[in-house]
Amino acid sequence: MDMFRVQGGARLQGRTEVGGAKNAALPIMAAALAAGGLTRLHRVPDLVDVRTLGTLLTSLGVDVRREDNGVLSLEVLDERSCVAEYDLVRRMRASICVLGPLLARRGWACVSLPGGCNIGDRPVDLHLKGLAALGAEIRVERGYIIAEARRLRGASIYLGGPFGSTVTGTCNVMAAATLAEGTTTIEAAACEPEVADLGEFLNRMGARITGLGTPFLKIEGVDALTGTEHTIIPDRIEAATLMIAAAITRGNILLENVRLNHLTAVLEKLREIGVSIALEGEAVRISAESSLCSSDCIALPYPGVPTDVQAQLMALLTITPGISIVTDKVFPDRFMHAAELVRMGARIRREGPSAIISGVPQLSGASVMASDLRASAALVLAALSASGESVVRRIYHLDRGYDRLEQKLNHLGAGIVRLADTPENMPSSLSVEIAELPAGTAGHELRGPSWLRQGQRISS
Ligand code: EPZ
Repeated sequence: MDMFRVQGGARLQGRTEVGGAKNAALPIMAAALAAGGLTRLHRVPDLVDVRTLGTLLTSLGVDVRREDNGVLSLEVLDERSCVAEYDLVRRMRASICVLGPLLARRGWACVSLPGGCNIGDRPVDLHLKGLAALGAEIRVERGYIIAEARRLRGASIYLGGPFGSTVTGTCNVMAAATLAEGTTTIEAAACEPEVADLGEFLNRMGARITGLGTPFLKIEGVDALTGTEHTIIPDRIEAATLMIAAAITRGNILLENVRLNHLTAVLEKLREIGVSIALEGEAVRISAESSLCSSDCIALPYPGVPTDVQAQLMALLTITPGISIVTDKVFPDRFMHAAELVRMGARIRREGPSAIISGVPQLSGASVMASDLRASAALVLAALSASGESVVRRIYHLDRGYDRLEQKLNHLGAGIVRLADTPENMPSSLSVEIAELPAGTAGHELRGPSWLRQGQRISS
């Protein structure tokens, strides 16, 4: 298991590039199952989640390979297997995205229910509701979803849920509907750019989808789809993460391969906090050399502030003067990162569905534990701005969704070292050692990091 040792205090400067969007690449890779033949995808990020899905697709008869030029090719060679095993699906929830394409193309799918998750409940009832509306026979047995349909039939479907629409649910139902007989309408469809990118990909394969990017989709079913080429859109969540890295270190960076129109709510929020954002040709300049201020943040479905940026914004708000209130309307319990930020000196308290933050002048380095993908990003950002050295453990969470993040940050001047998570790699300032107290004191053993032992008197 790896950890990051992070030396805080550097202002990030320079330029870097945003990669392809994880949450577009995953459903698009899964949708390759809806066609026969060869699909080639450009700008697919090199992530653990991409490799996990590649392994799952291989088990479903797809030859998955990364070409020398970085293009990911997927060729459907054998369509006999229709089972997505628990051991693979539990590692990555987005595996559920194979359900719709498998069902539509092969008429049968057996997909494990996704496992638990640290950011809150992740039901799939809306996925199943939509597929059943298309005429699939669906049952859940022994932890698996079993779906069958000789030929799906077009239907009018409402996909709204208690927390808005469903991103991967819309992906599943939209992909399945492309091969249904007749026309399907989906109301309360997710409008996220990643869903629209999947729709563009399906249309390149021969599907007939209109309304992409809006809550109302219309899909006219076709008899077959064929493999195609497609370039994945830039990752707006990675872009937001890098923007906040510049802001939290009071730096000045230039970001390339950013679609600003996918980030309107985030740009509004960052400007409200005092971050300056300006176009420079095709690139975007982010700087935060003037003073920052507190701001309230509510995470909402697109086009609102994304829930996948909530933790990173919280990290920034811990060092803006004043009170900020952060609420997540998509995953109301997505606050595992708050306690770890408090270990770094942040002042955060939970109040019902919100977190109340009182800004402090600076965080202090500490050893913290990542709990999920975006929480780990938030802790790295906090460590970049903290005084002294921090350790961010369980960094495997970060590797699931960021492609070479530490290289990009170090290229901008950060001081991040990836190490095995072992006691000898723990910095002395944070390591727990037994110190012999000077003769004549109370004789207690004092365990604690070196900064605690210096000048520490133990009363007898
Ligand atoms: C996608 O997850 C993203 N993952 C998540 O990103 C993102 O946080 C989320 O959408 C919201 O934007 C991928 O695209 C691979 P949802 P998804 O279905 O589709 C409820 C990251 O960090 N709901 O849109 O699983 C659900 O409980 C990841 O990159 C139902 O009630 O999320 C939640 O409250 C984390 N019934 C809300 O809807 C359902 O059938 C949104 O969930 C499905 C969802």
